[in-house]
Amino acid sequence: MTARKTKILLDGGDADETQRIKKLIGSLDGQTTNPSLIAKNPELKKLVTSEHGLSVREQMAEYRKIVEAISPLVGDGGVSIEVFADESTTAEEMLEQAREMFRWISNAFIKYPCTREGLRAAEQSVGSNIRVNMTLCFSQAQAAAVYAATKSTKVPVYVSPFVGRLDDIGENGVDLVANIKRMYAAGDGHVAVLAASIRNLEQLLYCFWLETDLVTVPAKVLDDWARHGFPMPDGNFKYTVTGKPILYQELVLDQPWQSFDIQHELTRKGIEKFVADYRATLSQTS
Ligand code: E4P
Repeated sequence: MTARKTKILLDGGDADETQRIKKLIGSLDGQTTNPSLIAKNPELKKLVTSEHGLSVREQMAEYRKIVEAISPLVGDGGVSIEVFADESTTAEEMLEQAREMFRWISNAFIKYPCTREGLRAAEQSVGSNIRVNMTLCFSQAQAAAVYAATKSTKVPVYVSPFVGRLDDIGENGVDLVANIKRMYAAGDGHVAVLAASIRNLEQLLYCFWLETDLVTVPAKVLDDWARHGFPMPDGNFKYTVTGKPILYQELVLDQPWQSFDIQHELTRKGIEKFVADYRATLSQTS
């Protein structure tokens, strides 16, 4: 059995859950949140039901309360906070939110989508020492663009390839994580790979086996890991391929980020879903 090199983050939006999982597995390196997870927070849900929806400011204040409660419970993997971004949100609008959110807690990472505007915001953020987590990553080209856009950084940068959502469309999602790791091996190491959208124990074990820098995991998968006695993959570990292989692409990292083809249908759909879940917490008049 090998020692674990991958940091574990909890994928969730409720400090009580963070507390419970921390106790269960001993420690947590960090946490990722997103608009869908925040919309499921029990306290926020109660407020939405009793007040028929929140104003934009109230929603922000609730999001802040949630991450403030989570922040001291986790380690240096930090707490990822996601900006509101729909298809027309500009980099400047994302940055304005980011500047505010980054001040909420001392270990914040700001999540931007892997879109043109998200990358523009990331490029400017790292210039102002704002740590970023580039989310909704579904292609190696998007990860290459993240690398190139944040090249000058002195602060940590994460890229989050979404495994489970690629599986959902019949692709072998973990291949993307392996491909990004391989591509980054030729780089300077300034972007850490944070495997996301983990749906089962086997995907978690694969991330440990691959030694991704970080993995973000929902509570139910960590419960399962605990139930099985915290197994770690050994040299004989074999992953059951779930779909069409995602082939490795030879991409040169050292070029302007704008030169990469960053379009991906799942990024667009992911944004749509986050926007819908966020809007569902707002009052009709906001
Ligand atoms: C990552 O930061 C996301 O919050 C998360 O992993 C999404 O997972 P899902 O595809 O199960 O919604």
